[in-house]
Amino acid sequence: ALERTLSIIKPDAVGKNLIGAIYNRFETAGFRIVAAKMMHLSTEQAEGFYAEHSERPFFRALVDFMTSGPVMVQALEAENAVRKHRDIMGATNPADALAGTLRADYAETIDENAVHGSDSVESAAREIAYFFADEEICSRTR
Ligand code: CMP
Repeated sequence: ALERTLSIIKPDAVGKNLIGAIYNRFETAGFRIVAAKMMHLSTEQAEGFYAEHSERPFFRALVDFMTSGPVMVQALEAENAVRKHRDIMGATNPADALAGTLRADYAETIDENAVHGSDSVESAAREIAYFFADEEICSRTR
């Protein structure tokens, strides 16, 4: 099915000047970028986005990292976008990520792992709505 997923290029990858390289991966893989913005997340924005992890031991470090510099946030559209985006990201821990995935190529540690992607169609709807108003999402008919 035609789906959308929420993608974030995290502060480590933005800091390494990898925005264009990662957008190239998305477009080469057949995604349409239907919304995008650069943001420097506040503590409240990062805590809200990752609320499901609030009881995890890594939560404070995660929020500190995600607020340490600007991120690029985008909504990506494709057939099976959620699965497809997870496949090109690779495993959460770059040590486990398959060769050729974004995390294998661009991330060093599980804490600073270059990219985020929604883990389900339901999460994608919530995460896209967290960052984008409906009128900020551009339908791509060509
Ligand atoms: P992300 O997909 O953005 O979702 C939550 C983030 O927490 C995850 O990527 C990792 O960067 C980070 N994290 C740190 N430690 C862990 C862990 N043990 N399990 C899952 N995520 C972790």
